[in-house]
Amino acid sequence: MTLRELYRPTQDEAARQAFVGAFKSYVNGPLETQLAELYESALLPDFVAREGRAPKSREEAVPLFEAEPLYQLWSSLVYTSQDLLWETSGETVDRLKPEIEAAAAALIQNPGKKGSLHLDPTMVLPEPIASTEIHRQPGGYFHQSYDGDMTAPALYMGAVETYRAAKGLGNSDPGEPAMGRYIAGLVKNYAPDLKPARVLDFGCGNGTQTVAYAQAWPEAEIHAFDLSAPFVRFGHAWAEDQGLAIHYHQMNAARTGFPDAHFDLIVSHIVCHETWHDILDDLLAEMRRLLRPGGLLLNLDIPYQPHMLPIPKQVTNHWQVVHNGEPFWTRFADTDIRAALAKAGFADDDIIADYQPMGAGRMYAFGGWKRA
Ligand SMILES: C[S@@+](CC[C@H](N)C(=O)[O-])C[C@H]1O[C@@H](n2cnc3c(N)ncnc32)[C@H](O)[C@@H]1O
Repeated sequence: MTLRELYRPTQDEAARQAFVGAFKSYVNGPLETQLAELYESALLPDFVAREGRAPKSREEAVPLFEAEPLYQLWSSLVYTSQDLLWETSGETVDRLKPEIEAAAAALIQNPGKKGSLHLDPTMVLPEPIASTEIHRQPGGYFHQSYDGDMTAPALYMGAVETYRAAKGLGNSDPGEPAMGRYIAGLVKNYAPDLKPARVLDFGCGNGTQTVAYAQAWPEAEIHAFDLSAPFVRFGHAWAEDQGLAIHYHQMNAARTGFPDAHFDLIVSHIVCHETWHDILDDLLAEMRRLLRPGGLLLNLDIPYQPHMLPIPKQVTNHWQVVHNGEPFWTRFADTDIRAALAKAGFADDDIIADYQPMGAGRMYAFGGWKRA
């Protein structure tokens, strides 16, 4: 049985996970719509009557919402739904972990394997990333109780698709590389003639999305890295299980150690908003350093730049930052990405910074060409 086939919730687990998905969809959808209506029908007119103008920023609007029982209800339901997300995915992971770990160990030790795994035993995980439990995932991305502990990557894999679907961004099974396929499709639209010899998945997480790049460019040498040892270990086993030659590395994105101009294509998915904002400039500079002249960088990330969002959505997003494990979100969203890419050395005409439709939502695609 493959690792992918191994990860199967029982009927009861699947039912509980489906409930959490529906619960999350309700709080993210109809309940947030009610909050937006409350703002338009009462909070905004009251504020205008008092101040003679509309709120200028989310900071001014947050106290208006915080006083409202509907907002208090919404926030406690989001919080509870996030707890349930981890609890219900955790049931499946706890049950299957011994089998997943045994299967992964066999794949990693297989002398005939196609790809490779490069862990860095000297790695010092940088703060504040190291001690942040993104999405409030219990233990976070880096935790391992023993060598070969697959809790963090399996939990992430089990929960992330439920989380995404409840935001209207897809409907995939755990481990399905749908986001990678979407990004590969965007690359082919932006660069139909690009035939990359070397591709890098920058901040690959548990590595399951990287599979899509190996499938999209079967002739290319595919590399992927992440700060998390358990994530890249899991990714390596996952790729080997599918007979794909992918090279996984444990590295820090701010200084990877790959040679200059090593890659024709660099892709990333939801990394920039999940890393400490103070190193964003270093990340973009590193991405550009690693691109060969004529190569393409394409990042896909959250579309929450304030100028794109009405005030109620800015307020609910801000709540996620403060209370729901998204501490790096706001400062990324507030960044002028075009300016940051220019600072990293991309020429104005070569920069990509577009909103791209996805399901019922959209994503922010940004990067650029390194001039030949
Ligand atoms: C939301 S996950 C996305 C992972 C993957 N791209 C995906 O789509 O599944 C963000 C990843 O960025 C990684 N990350 C954050 N800061 C990093 C850094 N400085 N160096 C390397 N990886 C980093 C985290 O460890 C995490 O795995």
